[in-house]
Amino acid sequence: MTTQKTVLRALAGETLPTPPIWMMRQAGRYLPEYKATRAEAGDFLSLCYNSDLAAEVTLQPIRRYGFDAAIMFADILLLPQALGAKLWFVTGEGPRLSTITTADELKALKPADAIHDHLNPIYETLKILSRELPSETTLIGFAGAPWTVATYMIAGQGTPDQAPAHALKAENKAVFEGLLDLITEGTIDYLSKQIDAGAEVIKLFDSWAGSLKGDDFLNYAVKPAARIVAELKKRHPDTPIIAFPRGAGEEYVGLHDAIGADCIALDDGVTAEWAAANVQTGGCVQGNLKSSHMVTGGDALVSETRRIVDAFKGGPHIFNLGHGITPDADPENVQLMIDTVREVR
Ligand code: CP3
Repeated sequence: MTTQKTVLRALAGETLPTPPIWMMRQAGRYLPEYKATRAEAGDFLSLCYNSDLAAEVTLQPIRRYGFDAAIMFADILLLPQALGAKLWFVTGEGPRLSTITTADELKALKPADAIHDHLNPIYETLKILSRELPSETTLIGFAGAPWTVATYMIAGQGTPDQAPAHALKAENKAVFEGLLDLITEGTIDYLSKQIDAGAEVIKLFDSWAGSLKGDDFLNYAVKPAARIVAELKKRHPDTPIIAFPRGAGEEYVGLHDAIGADCIALDDGVTAEWAAANVQTGGCVQGNLKSSHMVTGGDALVSETRRIVDAFKGGPHIFNLGHGITPDADPENVQLMIDTVREVR
């Protein structure tokens, strides 16, 4: 492999002396420059749909820290909006959507291939980033996995236990599965266009996969992800895919093969030692430092970072957090984590 992009090399299965590193939510409210650009854009959704400013906030953590990958600035809830759901963000609370719980509401959504006019600014953001990123930085596109996106569309907001989605699954399986199918089809089209626009890697976020148990995990987390991966691999065989079924626990075992993903991203609910023995044997893994270390820093941050690098050093690994960095994180702790991974202090 001749590429100098270390993230692509790890995703191709190479064991590197130093793991490449990037961070979920690396463009975000812990950075003063992000807050300034967000204020300039007006609100969060205006920032997502302003291609120049979305590219700018994507580049901010690359300039400040030299991460090995940039993840385009957008949100997993833009797809439901493109499908016709209403979406808004309540400051300090999070997203709100018009709900889909009946056959009529499902029927009123747009077909999966009618999303692109709405999502065009996202493709434009990727085109700008392909031009402007340093040559060693890998550009990541993303979408939410169908179950996670459906949990927001059914409840109309984030929920601690995804109860409304579980209820619809139990009470009206046809609507539930119809919605999952529509999201799956839309996600395939959306991600395919992201690759056309310059995304070099795709990440599928299944933030609430952990609330699916047994057959439900197989049917509603693994199978939709496998269908998305299979279709993308048909259209774009050279684009690696990272799957993140957060909270999968022991279900992480065997997922590279079951989903067909090039990399499985790990949350911090599993230890790196366990994952090295049970998950990394299937291929590249990403993760999994607890985000709270970015708030607390110090010796614990350094020793945990070293422990994770050490545990995964026998195989392909991309260093990351176990979930997104939080707004109360200290930007200096991010530098300390990077310096520790790269062994420069
Ligand atoms: O990682 C990155 O830097 C890229 C951009 C990105 C955002 N959201 C920006 C964002 C990505 C990849 C996402 C994914 C996303 N969005 C997920 C999956 C990953 C995860 O965190 O589990 C989910 C569930 C969402 C939905 C969402 N978006 C919620 C629940 C919230 C509110 C919670 C919060 O942190 O405020 C958002 C808002 C959001 N998405 C912000 C950012 C930077 C904060 C918005 C702001 O600036 O006020």
